[in-house]
Amino acid sequence: MAKDFDSMEDSNRSSNPDIHSVSDPARRSVLQLSLGAALGALFAPLTSGCAGMAAGSSGPKLGFKAVPATSDDTLVVPEGYVASVLAAWGEPIGVAGNMPAWRPDGSNSAADQEAQMGMHHDGIHFYALEGSSARGLLVMNHEYTDDGLLHTDGMKTWSADKVKKAQAAHGVSVIEVELKDGRWQMVRPSRHARRFTAYTPMTVGGPAAGHALMRTAADPAGRTVLGTLNNCASGKTPWGTYLTGEENFAFYFDGGDKLDAHQQRWGLRKTGTYRWGEHDERFDAVKHPNEPNRFGWVVEIDPLDPSSTPVKRTAIGRAAHEGAWVALTKDGRAVVYSGEDARFEYIYKFVSRDKMQPGGGRANRELLDHGTLYVARFDADGSGRWLPLVHGQGPLTAAGGFADQGEVVIKSRQASDALGATKMDRPEWLAIDARSGEIYCTLTNNSSRGAPNMPAPDAANPRANNVMGSIIRWQEGGDFDATGFRWNHLVLAGDPANTRAEARGNIKGDIFACPDGLAFDARGVLWVQTDAHATQMYKGEFVNVGNNQMLACDVATGEMRRFLTGPVNCEVTGVTWTPDGTTMFVNIQHPGETPSDRSDPAEPSKFSKWPNAAPGRPRSATVVVRRTDGGVIGT
Ligand code: FEO
Ligand code: CA
Ligand code: CA
Repeated sequence: MAKDFDSMEDSNRSSNPDIHSVSDPARRSVLQLSLGAALGALFAPLTSGCAGMAAGSSGPKLGFKAVPATSDDTLVVPEGYVASVLAAWGEPIGVAGNMPAWRPDGSNSAADQEAQMGMHHDGIHFYALEGSSARGLLVMNHEYTDDGLLHTDGMKTWSADKVKKAQAAHGVSVIEVELKDGRWQMVRPSRHARRFTAYTPMTVGGPAAGHALMRTAADPAGRTVLGTLNNCASGKTPWGTYLTGEENFAFYFDGGDKLDAHQQRWGLRKTGTYRWGEHDERFDAVKHPNEPNRFGWVVEIDPLDPSSTPVKRTAIGRAAHEGAWVALTKDGRAVVYSGEDARFEYIYKFVSRDKMQPGGGRANRELLDHGTLYVARFDADGSGRWLPLVHGQGPLTAAGGFADQGEVVIKSRQASDALGATKMDRPEWLAIDARSGEIYCTLTNNSSRGAPNMPAPDAANPRANNVMGSIIRWQEGGDFDATGFRWNHLVLAGDPANTRAEARGNIKGDIFACPDGLAFDARGVLWVQTDAHATQMYKGEFVNVGNNQMLACDVATGEMRRFLTGPVNCEVTGVTWTPDGTTMFVNIQHPGETPSDRSDPAEPSKFSKWPNAAPGRPRSATVVVRRTDGGVIGT
């Protein structure tokens, strides 16, 4: 989801960075470095000061010819590659006996939508069936809805049926796909086909399960939540499950006139963006003030078990979670990295108490319920600390406003404020380099950095009015459970043609802005996807950047090479591969996004017709990318 600078959430008014920056003379002096000096420090080998760690990866060569930036309403891949569309919004997922065809006028019912691909595809993973690179499951998020496209007359009228359809278009899809006669297609029907929507029952695991702050009139036990929403990025666990992040949940709730401090800190507003509370009382936070506490979690889904129930994993902490990504310690414990995509919010990691067991999701059904949650502090000398969010430690006591660990995880933001975590420029996706152990994170942008009464630039977020974004990386000081790390930036995005220093960046190779999606392929190439908003693109400092895109990066050299450009006003988000690396699945979200994020149903294809050649409603879709010679992508 791209965010218009004027409407995004901006709720962190805690004073923690100023406190720790003035308390440490060494840090203060480094913060006084000019931007030029800070840029000069980039590309320094991250591992040089990190004794005992593996050397940085010697990234493989990028073997394709870059595509140019463009503002054309089409999808472009390099010479020697072909792209085709699969599983667009509204395609029936393949539930036996219930496969309603998509209607291009928005007239499908809520019940139809529940058996069809949701809207606004985002994070995606391929799950090979029997190890095959020609048959598997695609599991993907549907982040949010454009109600101007979803309903025949958009939001001109508003009803319980429309709310239900919008809720059915959210969540997660599981579909089966196969490569047949040289073409990837959906397998329909499939016993694996499932939809998880904003009203699918889910259980709660971890320290917030049953907590007083999780109980509602409909769920007095506080252990069963209806639905998941604003599912943005996703991670695949080493034990074979799917982790989906609940991102901007605050936008779905009507908070009323009297927001308390907790509601304000979590960005609730008087009325939600999606108007669900008008017909679904659950989203009226005045009547049901604990319902928002039941969102903002990482949800674990076992796509290989069609009878499984999703679980909200509260031990990982509550946040506007972009997604969650898992590494294993040498002894087999799970380390889950996550970030919170909101201005001046934080980066987290969770270290499980127990070791992963063989046997898939069932054998590891409580692995993510017990462990230690940490939040990151990036110090100006290039070091960092993981600060434990543990009840009873430091300020996280009853006297400090945290009754127990459940309250610590429900109020992760407040707990992180109290610990002095570093306020970041909107952490989006993370990716873990299996070769070096380095962890990378996109910081997509933050136009409020350095604005009056807002936090100033710091070492990790070095640019004022940071409209371009950056990619930060770190190496743990030992195994993934270490409490200290070393960090630097892989790249500051921008365009060297810009006059403003903070918008030029230091890209080696093809220019881009607003990095968001991020993933390593099996060869160790880092793939970067972008998400500039329709209000930013094609003008001013973005005039040369073009449509949102995907680039490949050799992290050893920092070279960025543009691989794919999407259609007009789309976001490129989510990428996964078959095990043999010869097929790449990429999600294209909201082609034709409007500046207001909501289309006019009278003019649905005003900005984009993609992927339909004829006029119609633009549709988010998965794109299948292959080499014409069948070779490995990117070589
Ligand atoms: Fe859903 Fe932060 O992008
Ligand atoms: Ca984004
Ligand atoms: Ca995103």
